[in-house]
Amino acid sequence: MNRLLIALPLLLAANAGTAAGSDIAKAIVEEKCHLCHGTEGEASSAIYPRLAGQNKEYLVKQLKNFRDGIRKSDTMNEMAKGLTDEQIGALADYFSSKPARTHRVRDKALAAVGYYIFHKGNRFSGIPACKSCHGDYGEGTEKLPRLAGQHKRYVADQLRAFNERVRTNDNAVMHTIASKLTELEIEAVALYVSGLKEQPPKDSP
Ligand code: HEC
Ligand code: HEC
Repeated sequence: MNRLLIALPLLLAANAGTAAGSDIAKAIVEEKCHLCHGTEGEASSAIYPRLAGQNKEYLVKQLKNFRDGIRKSDTMNEMAKGLTDEQIGALADYFSSKPARTHRVRDKALAAVGYYIFHKGNRFSGIPACKSCHGDYGEGTEKLPRLAGQHKRYVADQLRAFNERVRTNDNAVMHTIASKLTELEIEAVALYVSGLKEQPPKDSP
């Protein structure tokens, strides 16, 4: 009973904190981000990344890197300019808590090539299995991006950007990998991850 009485104000304070955070995020999303990433983080076009269900720490890092000009992108450098750490934390909370989506994959033969690269890599050209870092189902980790359900076009664009080092922040690992991927492998692995969910896909070979 006593413990409850002490805990109650703390609980209320904590709730007030999150409510304020989600209000801050909602206002910014409705003003700016929704145009490209959608209100629910679903993304309005395949060239923009889906943010729904993306891992929180990864989102925080990318937004800070855009704001500070470390990850170069004309659009996102402008969008992140002036965001405070608190606003970035609230935006990361907002998008990471939205339910992730996935795609229906039609070209099963191409996806099968992607399945192989994702799960086994390519030992003939020295490509490690993507799942060794991005997780068995492309779910990522706190710090590593989720790939599951991401737009194929965005994933393929980023792999090319890593290869050319146009993606300017933390590109060492992904540059080494992307520089060894062929065009077929890029298209195939991007297609495969676009159809992943956090469970084994039913039709996986
Ligand atoms: C005009 C379109 C547009 C708007 C508006 C926009 N973005 Fe972006 N966003 C992009 C593009 C394009 C990229 C990919 C940039 C690249 O290629 O490096 C991106 C990338 C991102 C990423 C990196 C995702 C990843 O998987 O690495 C985050 C996080 C992000 N945006 C958050 C936001 C937030 C938060 C807002 C609102 C403050 C916002 N964006 C507004 C177009 C937009
Ligand atoms: C040794 C670990 C490692 C392996 C193996 C790996 N990745 Fe990554 N990948 C990373 C890291 C770390 C990042 C995030 C870099 C950052 O924080 O900016 C990343 C980022 C990415 C991104 C950007 C996601 C986004 O939302 O913008 C894509 C796409 C990607 N990896 C695809 C792949 C694919 C496809 C493979 C397999 C061919 C692969 N990765 C293998 C570590 C790895």
